[in-house]
Amino acid sequence: MLILGIETSCDESSIAIVRDGREILSHHLSSQSAQHAQYGGVFPELSSREHLQALPLLLKKCFIESEVSPADLDAIAVTQGPGLIGSLLVGIDFAQGVALATGKPLVGINHLEAHLWAAIMCQKIPPPFPALGLILSGGHTALLRMEAFGEYTLLGTTVDDAIGEAFDKVAQHLGLSYPGGPAIEKIAQEGDPTRYSFKAGTPKANPLHFSFSGLKTSVRYTAEAESPLTKEKRADLAASFQEAAFRAILDRVHLVMAREEVSSILIGGGVAQNHYFRKKLAQESSLPLIWPSPTLCQDNGAMIAGLAGYQMAQQIASPSLGLQAYPRLRGDITEWMSHPSHKTTQVIERIS
Ligand code: KG4
Ligand code: ZN
Repeated sequence: MLILGIETSCDESSIAIVRDGREILSHHLSSQSAQHAQYGGVFPELSSREHLQALPLLLKKCFIESEVSPADLDAIAVTQGPGLIGSLLVGIDFAQGVALATGKPLVGINHLEAHLWAAIMCQKIPPPFPALGLILSGGHTALLRMEAFGEYTLLGTTVDDAIGEAFDKVAQHLGLSYPGGPAIEKIAQEGDPTRYSFKAGTPKANPLHFSFSGLKTSVRYTAEAESPLTKEKRADLAASFQEAAFRAILDRVHLVMAREEVSSILIGGGVAQNHYFRKKLAQESSLPLIWPSPTLCQDNGAMIAGLAGYQMAQQIASPSLGLQAYPRLRGDITEWMSHPSHKTTQVIERIS
């Protein structure tokens, strides 16, 4: 099963050709972060235009590198959402064009589910289920119970900012460049995580939900009060923020491990590249940790092609040339994952 996957949900244009859901034959990615850096975050209109320019070149590189001819493909897969509407539409239009030109079926893929598939596609053997799924990205923070791949119960999500978004905004307050996650991780290595006692919020409705907005504001006020920021203070602020943000995740992982019988933890999303978090989670959990490779943590076409390959093999994909984009509202992961276009996904929100 050979699938060409296209990803354009945010600021990475990426195309890959993947065999049987896992084997990456070619994978190319063009990041726009340098173009967005001057705005301190993603500028949506610019993002759509950059995708439009990057996709044809990426497609050509993939065919040349993999030596796959369009006729050999079994399907074209594309991110249907969630993401920026304009960026999603550029990707879907492009994928429709490729599908029409090649006569191959077109499969719409849920970007969040693909982040979890990225963890699975990096393993030789399937992880033990039930599993705890952690999606930590720029747009989402979600804790899921997974009975199997494709069967989810949403345990917790953010009520305001996503964790990656908090890293990006705090980086701005500290005068660091976009994307904030890698910049904060880098300077935090020199900092003291105990110097400032920051804490993320715990929404009353559900101890497994997250709130990062107050934490972000505390860092901002402290940075203002400590101004002018020396190199040392900036590093201590970054380290203390990073510690508090990941403490919120780790505390919830402990809660889930105490009350749900799960046999492994699957992690996905750009924030999962963070080495400090990887080390902490390994220290604090006795369960097998299923991480994607760093390249497959960020937004990428390989996870889109991979998940489509899995769905095609399981005969649960519903190909259609007339795909719509589903940008959805931030934070409302339940609505998006239970969308009828995702037949594999069952979400029941459990408020404790
Ligand atoms: O999954 P992703 O590539 O895009 C979305 O689907 O949102 O995640 C991007 C997010 C950004 O907010 C970025 O700052 C964050 O991932 N990120 C990190 C690290 N690398 C990227 N956050 C913390 N530590 C990192 N090393
Ligand atoms: Zn993503």
